[in-house]
Amino acid sequence: MTMTISRQTVIPITELEQSAFCRSDGNLRTQTLEEEFKAGVRWQKIPTRYLKLSPEEIDSGIAEARKALGNQVVLLGHHYQREDVIKYADFRGDSYLLSKQAAAVKEARAIVFCGVHFMAETADILSSDRQSVILPNMAAGCSMADMANIEQVEDCWDDLGSVLGETGQVIPITYMNSTAAIKALCGRNNGIVCTSSNADRAFKWAYERGERVLFLPDQHLGRNTALKMGIPETDMVVWNPFKQMGGLTPEQIRRARVILWQGHCSVHTRFTTRQIEDARKKYPDVKVIVHPECTRETVAAADYVGSTEYIQKTVNAAPAGSVWGVGTEINMVSRLARENPDKTVFCLDPVVCPCATMYRIHPAYVLWVLEGLVAGLVINRIEVPAGTKADARIALDRMLEISE
Ligand code: 13P
Ligand code: SF4
Repeated sequence: MTMTISRQTVIPITELEQSAFCRSDGNLRTQTLEEEFKAGVRWQKIPTRYLKLSPEEIDSGIAEARKALGNQVVLLGHHYQREDVIKYADFRGDSYLLSKQAAAVKEARAIVFCGVHFMAETADILSSDRQSVILPNMAAGCSMADMANIEQVEDCWDDLGSVLGETGQVIPITYMNSTAAIKALCGRNNGIVCTSSNADRAFKWAYERGERVLFLPDQHLGRNTALKMGIPETDMVVWNPFKQMGGLTPEQIRRARVILWQGHCSVHTRFTTRQIEDARKKYPDVKVIVHPECTRETVAAADYVGSTEYIQKTVNAAPAGSVWGVGTEINMVSRLARENPDKTVFCLDPVVCPCATMYRIHPAYVLWVLEGLVAGLVINRIEVPAGTKADARIALDRMLEISE
């Protein structure tokens, strides 16, 4: 039995860098990498000849490389990718759809994942061994995923076992936004992975097998999902990984039906009920749609809640003339607005704040890895170790089964 020891609270560097690209002038036009490096975040090193390339030069380079590679390469793009990257994606989607796509792509020998690290890891777990998954910029992590590391989660798991014993029946559910090692821990311990589009099914699945859920790492998605299932907040506790025993008493742990890891997304926790009130004042007929990583209060004040794919489908299917206040990442909201010129679509947050890690997939990085493939080099391969892969796959397969 191990016990967590109190550690100093550590804020992930990705979280500290989150506001680097925020701006009030709304201008998110792609610049040369050299210019964008001035944002002051960590970027992966790249050969200097890519630094000064204009978006037009990059565009023709990518077209040439793709022509040479043909169907040997497939590009997957998450909805939060900037326009100058998502335009190259063969498939776009939310985390769930992209994981399914990664499992379905058979002929390509390389999958270039325009998204963040945990998504590329998942693609590596689900794709075949003869395929390589490539993340164009290795610094493209996720600040929420960085709020839970495997050592902390193992400590938590042991502590819960010490309080609840064998019969405690805690079912671990990890959000896709977590490391492969955490997914593997869930796979080994009767747990499951979920995304924002199937979290309620994962909870239902878990309660058919146990009394309690440990939900990692996003407390907001966990809380919002549990509330939707009728579990009152008094039955939930928050596990602080920097405190002994999560900062909880054994009694609190025994009474809890949901143990929420203390993690959050800094992009989605920016959305507030005040912004929703302002939107309703300005547009009395506005429909407010938000992502479930927003806080409980924001979700309660919204009209619709769902994954990025759900948000996209709902807005696209809405009647002409309708007005939409959206609470999710700005690159996606701007695209929705552009693709729905017959509707009014705007971001609830007046400050333009992209996800700083998603934004690190600059098109120059895409060109770099594609030119590598043309030259026979696999740059930035994401490879999950075999043991972790096998266990994580169990938890991912369970998710795919309940989502059919
Ligand atoms: P989706 O699965 O809804 O695309 O969400 C992924 C994500 O990282 C949201 O912040
Ligand atoms: Fe992670 Fe939030 Fe960015 Fe999604 S929007 S990738 S949760 S930091």
